[in-house]
Amino acid sequence: MQVIHFGDIHVWDLKVAWTDLFYLKRWLGGANLLLNRRKKFPPSYGEAVVAEILRQEADLVVFSGDMTTTSLPSEFTRCAERFAPLREKWGERFFVIPGNHDRYTPRSVKAGLYEAAFPYGTVDPETRLRTLELDPNWVVIGFDCSEPFAVMSNGLFTDQLADALEACLEQQRNAGKNIILTGHFPYAYPPGILPGTHHLLIKAERLEALVATYQPVVYLHGHKHIRWLMNPPSTVHTACINCGPAGMKSEHPAQRAGFVRFTLSDQGKLEKVFAVQYEAGDDEGFEEQCVWETGA
Ligand SMILES: [Fe+2]
Ligand SMILES: [Fe+2]
Repeated sequence: MQVIHFGDIHVWDLKVAWTDLFYLKRWLGGANLLLNRRKKFPPSYGEAVVAEILRQEADLVVFSGDMTTTSLPSEFTRCAERFAPLREKWGERFFVIPGNHDRYTPRSVKAGLYEAAFPYGTVDPETRLRTLELDPNWVVIGFDCSEPFAVMSNGLFTDQLADALEACLEQQRNAGKNIILTGHFPYAYPPGILPGTHHLLIKAERLEALVATYQPVVYLHGHKHIRWLMNPPSTVHTACINCGPAGMKSEHPAQRAGFVRFTLSDQGKLEKVFAVQYEAGDDEGFEEQCVWETGA
């Protein structure tokens, strides 16, 4: 089975959301965007990545959150339009979940902007989970742990979500399924990469414990804008894949706009992983690199 995983496309708009003018984070987000994101996330990069994914063949395409930058209605609309051809090509096998930037302000969450733009990516409001059975062997489980915190970019893995996810994992394991798990936030970081406390998943240890117990084949996430693949010592049977940003401009290849492509065997093993990175300028195009292979 072929899987494509991308995330953190961060579509942006410089419009001011008049309805949220008194919300502090709106100002902070706006200032940050003006200074930073406009240069860092050129729209043509995200467009090139989506176009490249469309050219590929895959059994499943996962987007692990952060469609927008500050959850503006116009950002949601733009991203939904950009994703429309993916939805058309893959139908329910284009599996999306929200990230913290898609739950940016309480008002945008209350207004259901994410759900309106991506009805096919809606999580169950009670459990905050969604599942997709791919075939008798494989299931995808996605969860939403993004909250509109006042200033921070944290996620929160609540006890309620942990209980719901545990029940779901238990059920799928008993049904003999191999599990592809996706959430927006990492629970582990490679050596040398230190997350800021304002950027972490709060109560990540509960997620880590569930992964250790139920051993999904892969855990797909983004959030930290660096592409990586690791089997954390605490959950050694699960490969954690950070797809890296889909829309970012960077000198560093692992932070460059791109995505990850991998293959899974019928026996439930990760076989081969490729990092696909975008190169702008004179050599415009995509560079594909095999980063891991069974037995290699
Ligand atoms: Fe992000
Ligand atoms: Fe994020």
